[in-house]
Amino acid sequence: MNILILGGGGREHALAWAAMQNPKCDRLIVAPGNAGIAAIAECARIDVLDPAAVVQFAGDNAVDFVIVGPEAPLVAGVADALAEADITVFGPSAAAARLEASKAHTKEICDAAGVPTAAWWRFDGPAAAAAHVRMNGAPIVVKADGLAAGKGVTVALTEAEALAALEALDGPVVLEEMMTGEEASFFVLCDGEMALPIGTAQDHKRALDGERGPNTGGMGAYSPAPVLTDEIAALTMERIVRPTLVELVRRGTPYRGLLYAGLMIEDGQPRLVEYNVRFGDPEAQVLMMRLGAQALDLMQACAEGRLDEARVNWADDHALTVVLAAEGYPGTYESGSEIRGLDALPEDSSHMTFHAGTAERDGRIVAIGGRVLNVTARGATLAEARDRAYAMVDAVEWPEGRCRRDIGWRALDG
Ligand code: AMP
Ligand code: GLY
Repeated sequence: MNILILGGGGREHALAWAAMQNPKCDRLIVAPGNAGIAAIAECARIDVLDPAAVVQFAGDNAVDFVIVGPEAPLVAGVADALAEADITVFGPSAAAARLEASKAHTKEICDAAGVPTAAWWRFDGPAAAAAHVRMNGAPIVVKADGLAAGKGVTVALTEAEALAALEALDGPVVLEEMMTGEEASFFVLCDGEMALPIGTAQDHKRALDGERGPNTGGMGAYSPAPVLTDEIAALTMERIVRPTLVELVRRGTPYRGLLYAGLMIEDGQPRLVEYNVRFGDPEAQVLMMRLGAQALDLMQACAEGRLDEARVNWADDHALTVVLAAEGYPGTYESGSEIRGLDALPEDSSHMTFHAGTAERDGRIVAIGGRVLNVTARGATLAEARDRAYAMVDAVEWPEGRCRRDIGWRALDG
C-alpha cells in the first residue's frame, strides 16, 4: 500500500513511524514532513491546503491511502476532494470538520444532542461580548469563534482579564461558563455512526512547570489518563460521543475519522470542553507509541467503513512524551540553532524521538520551529516511561531549547 500523510509535526512523525511498523506499508510519503520524518519516509512539497493539488499528487504517485494530520486541510475540504476522486482518506469532510472550526457550531450540536458541556453565549463581535461580561462578571471563558490552535482561548478569573482578552479579538466571540475539574482527552475512531475508542491521554498546555505561564499547543503528554476510568469512558461514549454522531448523521454530515473529545471531569462526570477533528499533538505521539503497527489497520478500517470488524489490542503499558521547545516559545524564539546528541538516543518500540520543527542543513539538525522534538518512551508503569523519556531528554545537546520537567505530575504525584 502507498500511503501519503499530510503534515509535518511531531504528530505526523508518530503517524509515519506507526505506519512504517506495519508490513502493509510499501511506500510512505509525508508532505511536508521534517528532518526526523525524512529519515524514515519520502518528504514532498505539496500545498496541503489546496484540495486539487493533493488529489493530483496522490493520483500521480499511485497513493492508495491518505492520512490527514492537522485540521486545516480538513477544513479546506481535502478529504472531500480525495473521496470524490475515489482515494481512501482518513479524516472527516469539511462539513464534519466544522466541529473544530467553529465553537458556536459545536455548541449548537451539543445543545441539540443533549451533550453535557459549559453554558455558552455567542456574539457577533467583542463589544457585545464585553457588555455581557460587565453585566455578568467573572469567572468566564473567552473564545474566538474560529480555528486558533488552542491559542484563542482565555480562562478569565476576573472581569478585567476577560475585558482585556476581548480587546485583543475581532470577529465573532463565544463566552462560556468556566468549568472546573480535571481535563483529559478521549480518542475515538468513527466511520459514520459506529465509534471505537482507541485511547486516552493527558496533555500539558501551559509553558512552564506547575501549570504556570502561557498556553501552548502542548508541552508533553502521557497515555493512558488514569482519571479517565473505564466507567467515565463508558459515560463519555453514551452521553457525549454517540449523541453527537447521531446528531451529525441527522444533519447529513456524518463523521468519519478520528474524533478527539477534550473532557472536563468532576465528581465522576465528564463534560465536553471541545472537539478536535484530528489526533492531538503531542497526544498522538503517546497513542502511536502504544498502538504501534495496528494504528494503520485501525485508521484504514475506519476510512473504509469497516470499524465493526476492527479490534484494538490494548497492551497494559504507559507512554509519556516530553516536548523540547525553542527558548521563548510560545512567544518569539530564534530559529536555526543546532541540535546535537540525537544519534546516540535509543530508537526501539520503547524509545522514540519524534521531530516537529526540525530541518537538516549540511548534515546538521537545526531547530526551525517553536515545538521542536518530542522525546517519547514507553514503560510498564508511567514512572518507568517518564524516567526513560527524561534520560533521553538529558542526552540531547541543545542549549537553545527547554522543556517542562514535570510531565506526568497529575498521575505520578497527584
Ligand atoms: P479549547 O481551544 O476550547 O480547547 O480551549 C483551550 C483550553 O482552555 C482547554 O483545554 C481548557 O483548558 C480551557 N477551557 C476551554 N473552555 C473551558 C471552559 N468552559 N471551562 C474551563 N476551561 C476551559
Ligand atoms: N495538544 C492539543 C491539541 O492537539 O489540540
